[in-house]
Amino acid sequence: MPTFDSALLLAARASASDEGAIIRMSQKTRDLRAQGRDVVSLTLGEPDFDTPFFIQEAATAAMRAGFTHYSPVAGIPELRTAVAHKLKAENGLCYSPGQIVMANGVKQAIANAVFSLIEHGDEVILLAPFWVSYELTVKLAGGTPRTLSAGVEQDFKVSPRQVADALTPKSKLLILNSPNNPTGAVWTKAELQALADVVSQHPRLMVLSDEMYEYIIFEGEAISFGALPGMLERTITVNGFSKSFAMTGWRLGYAAAPEPIARSMARMQSAFTAGANSFVQRAAIAALEAPRDEVVRMRESYRRRRDIVARGLAEIPGVKMAPIPATFYAFPDVSAFLGRRREVGTVDALCDWLLETHGVTAVPGSAFGDDSCIRLSFAASERDIVMGLDRLKAGFAALS
Ligand SMILES: Cc1ncc(COP(=O)(O)O)c(C=O)c1O
Repeated sequence: MPTFDSALLLAARASASDEGAIIRMSQKTRDLRAQGRDVVSLTLGEPDFDTPFFIQEAATAAMRAGFTHYSPVAGIPELRTAVAHKLKAENGLCYSPGQIVMANGVKQAIANAVFSLIEHGDEVILLAPFWVSYELTVKLAGGTPRTLSAGVEQDFKVSPRQVADALTPKSKLLILNSPNNPTGAVWTKAELQALADVVSQHPRLMVLSDEMYEYIIFEGEAISFGALPGMLERTITVNGFSKSFAMTGWRLGYAAAPEPIARSMARMQSAFTAGANSFVQRAAIAALEAPRDEVVRMRESYRRRRDIVARGLAEIPGVKMAPIPATFYAFPDVSAFLGRRREVGTVDALCDWLLETHGVTAVPGSAFGDDSCIRLSFAASERDIVMGLDRLKAGFAALS
């Protein structure tokens, strides 16, 4: 009898979903800590705050009231209404509740959107540096990512001209993320308008606008792409609760889209998950309807940490920085140090070396489509940030 090897049965798409650098670095950090090593981790893209108490209370009350059953696939009507209201009041976006699809996190909302639109042969424009999941989801859906890049000298913002030059008749979707993970960049209204002018020239291009970090902004303004003239019909807006309301583990996000796409996203979701968690949706109504005091308190704390990180990195000779007007990430360009030693030839190798020799974890920019930078998360305690910066300084000094 031949031996049975289930690995041979894996679909080709299974190889598109590798574990990713963030998970790899987090695992290495855990392994070293388990060996008793002292490691400062600046990898996690997750608020270090607990979910505000009033949101926890709303979830508990919903559970106690028996709100623990399946909910409608696209979400409970009261929450879809609350989201439509928020998008109108805060973002200038006119969606009806029927155009809102709640999902198990923004990740799921993005997957619903990409799987609704993209099929074999369709090209998706990604603006690097980009959040890791976009590329993976596009590949899983059978699409072809077309990656355009902008480095530190462009403040990490791909220009509308680069986009115009890259479009082909096969282009179907452009994924935009402002404020941006991993760079903290924020596109200005004028920059977005110039991009909208390019988009409107293309017969079938849609934009997926990921507005996850809209509240974690220190300078400038978070503009919704769909609010620009003529762009609502061209845009799928996604947003959620993980970062702004410190609700990563609750798994709730949403997409808002033109009706045919919204209906399709709900059908996708019905196939994969049957919809978001019921009592979490009740808690989300409480989050949206309350004043933004907690959100502002967390933002101001990130601002203080941003200042520490920006000052600390500016003091390291050879590190190049763009401003960090938003999010809780810094994305220093460390290309000056690559190749200084045999073991630090790439940003991946540099991150391994920093972890092993100086006990500080960062994520290599290669995970975000950039081979010159590393990502540092400052959603960490000020003590860890200061210690992490000291270790980075020592590490880069040793390479100088
Ligand atoms: C830009 C961006 N979009 C979406 C997500 C995913 O959010 P969620 O936790 O709602 O799935 C993340 C998480 O890191 C992110 O950085």
